[in-house]
Formats: sequence, structure tokens, C-alpha cells
Amino acid sequence: MTTIEEQVARYGYVTETIAEDIDLIAEINRLKKEKNAVILAHYYVDAEIQDLADYIGDSLGLSQQAAATEADMIIFCGVHFMGETAKILSPNKKVVIPDLNAGCSLADSAPADKFAAFKAQYPDHIVISYINCSAEIKALTDIVCTSSNALQIVNSLPKDQKIIFAPDANLGRYVSQKTGRDMVLWDGACIVHIDISREKLAELRKDNPDALLIAHPECKEDILLQSDFVSSTTGLLKFVQESDHDKFIVATEAGILHKMKQAVPHKKLIPAPGSDNNTCACSECPYMKMNTLEKVYNALYYEQPEIFVPEDIRLKAYESVARMLELSKGI
Ligand code: 13P
Ligand code: SF4
Repeated sequence: MTTIEEQVARYGYVTETIAEDIDLIAEINRLKKEKNAVILAHYYVDAEIQDLADYIGDSLGLSQQAAATEADMIIFCGVHFMGETAKILSPNKKVVIPDLNAGCSLADSAPADKFAAFKAQYPDHIVISYINCSAEIKALTDIVCTSSNALQIVNSLPKDQKIIFAPDANLGRYVSQKTGRDMVLWDGACIVHIDISREKLAELRKDNPDALLIAHPECKEDILLQSDFVSSTTGLLKFVQESDHDKFIVATEAGILHKMKQAVPHKKLIPAPGSDNNTCACSECPYMKMNTLEKVYNALYYEQPEIFVPEDIRLKAYESVARMLELSKGI
């Protein structure tokens, strides 16, 4: 028999078997109350997890919630860097994620040692990092941003301020074009958004000429240039609600369609197609999909796997995340 700690060390999550007759959703809700825990979920996790979360949102909204919550424990259903950000903001709370293997290709694209060497080449630049990065990268960053506030944050800096933007080159290029600011870009990408197939999208647009194309700024440049609207997940959700149009091709991870369908059940929402390697004919993040109801239950029950951030890194990372929150008031 393995202990819970051994299971987490070996598999990255608690593998304990759950009794078959258990009503998982009722038990999760009961445990949540008993332990004064809050469940935060990103729009990209499975619908059944979104439906039981206390708060569902984009990266900015989730950070704001993590900073503001009065719960004793945060169960973060998203990916690893989101759990880390919650711990950076709320060090005295227990932060648990259902599966430590839920990483992010963007965060992985920027190892701290390589990024530190890159940064050293541009001593007169300040570093703006997309929140999709590790705590170590946040500690090497001046201001964190998300896709909802990147334009605002860059625009808040003096015109002659030199900027390094990391780790998402597509978002960086988009922000650079929109703000007219020349930025040094780190060459990272999201495997999900860059997988959206240009050819299949062209066919889909031909078949649906009356649909607006709306895209997340992590998509490649050619997709962003032809899009009618570009924004974060929350921005896209708001757009389909507020637009007079009733048909949209949605170029981001397909999980967002759950909330969109609930918000505008009468409108037609078509997920942008991923490449042939993608079996769902849409775009799914394999990391976000590692969150399952069983893992959420075990995470809440056993309070593991817990997220820890070394205090020296946390203190530096806190500065760059807090600057972002300060500059995002009102968003
Ligand atoms: P937002 O929800 O902040 O737009 O981020 C998208 C994303 O890729 C999260 O990993
Ligand atoms: Fe990372 Fe992309 Fe998945 Fe978001 S969708 S967690 S950016 S790999």
C-alpha cells in the first residue's frame, strides 16, 4: 500500500480509489463547506468541473479571486502556474491543484536559467511577462500581465521605455502591433492555439460567411489578422453576449464554449478546428483536461497535491503580480 505522499510523488496526484456509490458532486460540495475551501476553475476545464466551481474565469479574474478569497483552502482547477500564482498571492492559504502534471507549454518554454541569461542581454529593458509562466520567471519580471490587460499595461509605460515581453511571442507581437511599441520577444507559444489549422479554418469560413471570427491573442498572427475580434477568454465571452451577430467561429480552447452556450443559447457557436492530430475536431488543452471530478474530490479530501513556492522567489514574484493587480483595477 502506498501513502498519499508516495502517490503524489510518483504520479503527481492522489490515486486513491473512490467508492463507486459515492455522489461525487454532493461530496465535493459537502467537503468544501466543511473545510472552508473555495474551488476556482478556468474556462478551459471540463464542463462538469466548471459547473461545481465557486468562481470560473480567465487568468486575471482567477488571480483577483485568489487574492481576495477568505477561504482557508483554494482548490485550483486549471494548470500549475495558476496554482502557483494563487500561492504567491495568498501564502497563508493552502493551495491544492488536482494534478501536478497539468503544466503549460508556454510556462515550459521559458526555463528560468535561460530566461535570466536572455534578460541580461537587455539591461535597460523592463520585463513584462504573461502570467502563463513559472514563479521563477515571475520573480525575474517587473510586471505580470494577462491577455485581458496586456495592452493597458504596456500603454501605461512611458513611450521610450524598452520592453522585453515573455513568454508568448504571438501575444507579444499582437500587443506590439496594437500599441506601436517595439518589444523584444521571447519565443514561446501555446501548443493549443498555434495548432488551429489555417486550411480548415479557411474552409469553415467559406461554409459560414455570415459568422464572425473571434480569437484569443495566443493564436498565430495570420489568424489574428483575419479575426473580427481578439481578446482574452472573458473578453470573447462578453463579446458573443453583447454583439448583434448570432454566429461565431471561436478560435480558442473549446472549453469556453460551455459558458458561451449557457450565456447565448440561441446563438450559433462553432469551435475553430485544430490540426488532424486533434481528435475532437476542435482545440483542447491536454493539461487543462487533466482535471477530473475524481481528482478534484481526492484533492479536496486529502488536501494534496499542495503547491509550495520558496519564500525568496514568492516575495519577488509577488511584486510583479501585485503590480499587475494594481494596474488592472477596474478591469
Ligand atoms: P485567459 O483565460 O486569461 O484568456 O488565458 C487563456 C489561457 O490560455 C490560459 O492558459
Ligand atoms: Fe498553456 Fe495553452 Fe493550455 Fe493555456 S491552453 S494552459 S496557454 S498550453
